[in-house]
This record gives sequence, structure tokens and C-alpha cells, in this order.
Amino acid sequence: MQPTSGDATTATATVCQDSAVGAIAQSDSAEPPSDHSGRPQSWMSGLRPADPGPRFDPSVPHPARVYAFWLGGKDHYPADRKAAEDVIRSRPQVVEGARATRPFLARVVRYLAGEHGIRQFLDIGTGLPAPDNTHEVAQRIAPNCRIVYVDTDPLVLVHARALLTSTDQGCCDYLDADLRDTPAIVAGAARTLDLAQPVAVLLLAILHFIPDADDPARIVATLTRALAPGSFVAITQLTGDFAPSQVTAGIAAYNTVVPAGVVARTHSQVTALFGGLPLVAPGVVPVTEWRPSPTSASPCPADLYAGLARVPRTRM
Ligand SMILES: C[S@@+](CC[C@H](N)C(=O)[O-])C[C@H]1O[C@@H](n2cnc3c(N)ncnc32)[C@H](O)[C@@H]1O
Repeated sequence: MQPTSGDATTATATVCQDSAVGAIAQSDSAEPPSDHSGRPQSWMSGLRPADPGPRFDPSVPHPARVYAFWLGGKDHYPADRKAAEDVIRSRPQVVEGARATRPFLARVVRYLAGEHGIRQFLDIGTGLPAPDNTHEVAQRIAPNCRIVYVDTDPLVLVHARALLTSTDQGCCDYLDADLRDTPAIVAGAARTLDLAQPVAVLLLAILHFIPDADDPARIVATLTRALAPGSFVAITQLTGDFAPSQVTAGIAAYNTVVPAGVVARTHSQVTALFGGLPLVAPGVVPVTEWRPSPTSASPCPADLYAGLARVPRTRM
């Protein structure tokens, strides 16, 4: 299967089995994978897309690749590394924040699949593959879980189609769609997920790319209105609450070079994103404090809030 590369805002390709590895070529880099500290990282793909399409421009820093650098991934370019390092200079803890989001993803997916029997996930703002991707965590609990990954980054989509592949019993699908285009996401997801049954929508480290002018709470409400009772929505969102001046400086550095730009939100603004849906305990909390596992290391500073809400049987 060749990667799709159109410039339409939405496109979809269902790949319930692994048929996309041909979309990826081995990196021609002679360098062994390493993070920005030089430590080897065992999970890096060391792969490069054969053809990510005309929207791919490595000279412009992109959120998924900057984030991959902070995570210790390999799939980034000099412009991404420069943007990531500019932010680190203002707020070194950005690295811990990014690395705290992935364990949250694993905890919340385990909680949903294990304790609530959720078998369908809509992961919007997928990011580049990293350890414990949504389908891996979910399908370890129930191999028949169905996952739809959504992103706008052509590099993410090429890697997702190649590397985020399902068990035989389950399914992974991929949508090239902007979070703001909720009708396209709902229609595309409905090709793989049964929206009459509960779905968990994951909006992890994506809503801070949606400015207030685009009304992120309305976007969340539109998505959750399309879901069956018993569905869930999980959110993580950048905040400046714990170090306002450093985070403001870090955001300024990021927004100077990354066209997408980010916005920080306070605890009450993050809570408002859930639109009054009932929050699962412990509510909206620093990401490391959301149901930490007993074996979790002591939490590092992370400028992200996390929360999970449930779609009730009767809407208010
Ligand atoms: C910081 S990464 C988060 C990855 C993953 N959710 C996680 O928490 O590890 C943000 C991802 O959201 C995607 N993204 C940003 N704005 C988007 C939008 N408006 N619509 C769809 N995807 C978007 C980026 O391409 C990137 O892959």
C-alpha cells in the first residue's frame, strides 16, 4: 500500500491488517538512534517515509516531530530540533511533560478497556508512533479493540499506517483530518467504529493547538454529542499554572517558529473543555497525578492537566 498524500483535509484508509509496511523505507542515516541527550532509545523506528506527500516540508517545524524529539524519538529534522531546543532553554521541564503524557495514555486506555469494557477508541492527534500506542495498550487487554487514529501530519499518517497495525481480531483505521472538522471525523470514524456503542475519544496534547477563537469546548461538545451513552472523553492540555513566566517564554519560543502555535490554559479553562460532562475521579489534575500506578516513579514537574469524563445516559 502506498501512502496517501492528497491535500484534502480528510481522507481515510482502513487497514485492519498490516499491509502498509511498504510505505516506509529504512533511514539512510548512519547514526544510531539517540535522543537529544545522546542516550540510545530502543523504541525508535529508524525509519523514514518513502513518500509522505506534497504537504511534507522538513524545513518547517511540526508539532508531531518537535514532540518526538522531546520524547527521545528519531523522526525529526534540524528545524524541529531547533524549535524543541529553543523551548527547552525557557522551560527544561517540557521534556518531562511530554514524557509524562505517554504513561497517562497507557493508564487511561488500560482503565477504560480494563475497568469499563471499552472496545472502541478514537485517538485524535495521534503523534508519531512511540512505545505503548493506543491500540497496543487496548488490544493487550482485549484483542478485538477497534481504534481510529486521526492526525493532520502526513509523516504521522505514513508512520501510523505502517506501524500502528492491529491484531487479527481487532482493527486500526487512519483518518487524515483536522480536529476542527468534526463532521468529517465523526463520519470517517463511523466507517470503522459502531457509534451506537460506547467509544473513548482521546484528545491528548492536541487541544492546546486549538485557539480560543476556534472554540475548543464546542469541538469537544460536538464530538461527544455524536457518542453513545457510556462513552468517554480524555483530555490532556498544556498549562502555565505551575510556572507562568517560564511556560509563557517557552510558548513564545515555540510559537515563533512552529506555525501551528499553542495556547496554555488554566485549571478552570481545562475543566470547561469537558462542557459539564461528569468527570471521573480524581477530576482535572496534573497529568502525573491522574490515577498513578503504585509502581510509578515520583512525579516530575509536567505542565499538563489531564482529565477523563463520561457521557451520561441522559444529557443535561
Ligand atoms: C503533541 S502531539 C500528541 C501526540 C499524542 N496524542 C500523545 O499525547 O502522545 C500532537 C499531535 O496532534 C496533531 N495535531 C495538531 N493539531 C491538529 C489538528 N488541528 N487536527 C488534527 N491533528 C492535529 C499533530 O500533528 C501531532 O501529531
